[in-house]
Amino acid sequence: MIPGTNPFSSDSEFDSLFPIYIQELSVLHFTPLNVALTASQFLAPDEDAKVVDIGAGTGKFCMAGSHFTKGQFTGIEQRQHFVRIGNKVIKRIGLERVALINCNFTEIDIHDYTSIYFYNSFHENLVFSDVLDNKAKFSTELYELYTAHFLKQLNAMPTGTRLATYWLGITEIPGSYQLLETYFDGKLKLWVKKG
Ligand SMILES: C[S@@+](CC[C@H](N)C(=O)[O-])C[C@H]1O[C@@H](n2cnc3c(N)ncnc32)[C@H](O)[C@@H]1O
Repeated sequence: MIPGTNPFSSDSEFDSLFPIYIQELSVLHFTPLNVALTASQFLAPDEDAKVVDIGAGTGKFCMAGSHFTKGQFTGIEQRQHFVRIGNKVIKRIGLERVALINCNFTEIDIHDYTSIYFYNSFHENLVFSDVLDNKAKFSTELYELYTAHFLKQLNAMPTGTRLATYWLGITEIPGSYQLLETYFDGKLKLWVKKG
């Protein structure tokens, strides 16, 4: 952490670490810090927790999680420039237990993780006004492909896997997960994989 500063004291303080165009995206597309606090404390109850953020943006959720808990956070992000900017900030403020990886989430095995965070990442394929920038491909076919792959992976996870979803409806998560609690007017949902 940079001496004398706390980037996690407010969203605007955190966002100010990034270029203006990222700050503008953050308001709509990246998790607010109070939501990240509640979600990360659920996903990483102890130091053995390994949390993956599917569609990590510039890493706001992962960075906040590593600050607020003792768990390990990995962000998977398709946009190369988000990962480059995010990893620079991680280094600059000296955060530990957090990394951003540039790839499509379909290339990774989420079995390597104990917990999953998901902020409706595929939505920009459906609502083109929600597109973050022109650095990725979008289509309803991609939405369907990503969603089917994600649900298949969720169903294959072991009993006890923790999942936090933000801005997702109850029916969008398979019945193999039990909804435990909701916060922030129901926008944040905390789930666990049933036996
Ligand atoms: C709504 S933002 C959420 C960012 C971050 N999780 C947070 O809460 O601060 C969704 C992100 O998912 C990424 N994304 C969408 N589809 C993806 C895919 N198939 N693989 C990897 N990243 C993806 C987008 O590029 C975007 O940065």
